[in-house]
Amino acid sequence: MSCKKLKMICFSPTRTTRRILDAVAEGVGAGQLEVIDLTREDQLPADLNCDDDLVIIGAPVYSGRIPLAAVERFKALKSCGTPVVPVVVYGNRAYEDALIELSDIATEAGFKTVAGAAFIGEHSFSTEKTPIAVSRPDEDDLVKAREFGKSLVAKFADGSLATSSVEVPGNRPYKDRSPKASASPVSNGDCQLCGACERVCPTAAISVGAMVETDPDKCIFCCACVKVCAFEARKLEVPRLLEVSQWLADNFSARREPEIFI
Ligand SMILES: Cc1cc2nc3c(=O)[nH]c(=O)nc-3n(C[C@H](O)[C@H](O)[C@H](O)COP(=O)(O)O)c2cc1C
Repeated sequence: MSCKKLKMICFSPTRTTRRILDAVAEGVGAGQLEVIDLTREDQLPADLNCDDDLVIIGAPVYSGRIPLAAVERFKALKSCGTPVVPVVVYGNRAYEDALIELSDIATEAGFKTVAGAAFIGEHSFSTEKTPIAVSRPDEDDLVKAREFGKSLVAKFADGSLATSSVEVPGNRPYKDRSPKASASPVSNGDCQLCGACERVCPTAAISVGAMVETDPDKCIFCCACVKVCAFEARKLEVPRLLEVSQWLADNFSARREPEIFI
């Protein structure tokens, strides 16, 4: 049996999760690949039924959990027993309960977890002053992601993937979510009002007109706006998060490697 129809479902504000999922999908090499990117709330597809041979679902880790914005979008998915591979991408600190949470979300939607993985991506808070997992995923990570895809297809071909049931690490109940501060990145005088930040914001928190306005209650600190700004005019200057960035850079610089569960 071969994997003809593969679906990739992701939430990925700064695209590291998306790059890992692309590489896993490349390794699977299915005849038909459908991508459902749930990152932008105004681009959600109407039909979220999954009758594919295999589904790969991916999200970043926020405070050891799946970001709420992703959880809400994933909840619209429906399946009748399709094999699913949850993949989380984290910023070289820890993924804690995120992978088990993503597996549980998929189970709730009717999927069956047959494998899973945790990869590393450049931390959303990484800056020149506080570098954290800079440029990850790198080529080594992408090779591992493609190999993971190949191992999935090998197990699919010999029939063992359909019967396997994988337990991924994590605790239930999951760790508590950190309370969300009402704050956001800000644009400085170098801003050219080009609108790139508005276009990448996953929660529609930014509107660009004669000036840039950001709704601090909608902002999830994903930093997509900071990373996309070609003029380096958008900065995360929330004091508490600057402290966190420094703590991460000081304590989590030792390279962590991807973990595969199959
Ligand atoms: C609000 C927030 C919380 C985060 N929490 C964690 C965490 O608990 N552990 C970790 O290692 N990385 C954490 N990260 C880093 C992201 O998981 C990492 O940068 C990931 O690659 C981002 O994925 P994306 O590129 O798909 O958006 C956090 C990032 C943000 C924005």
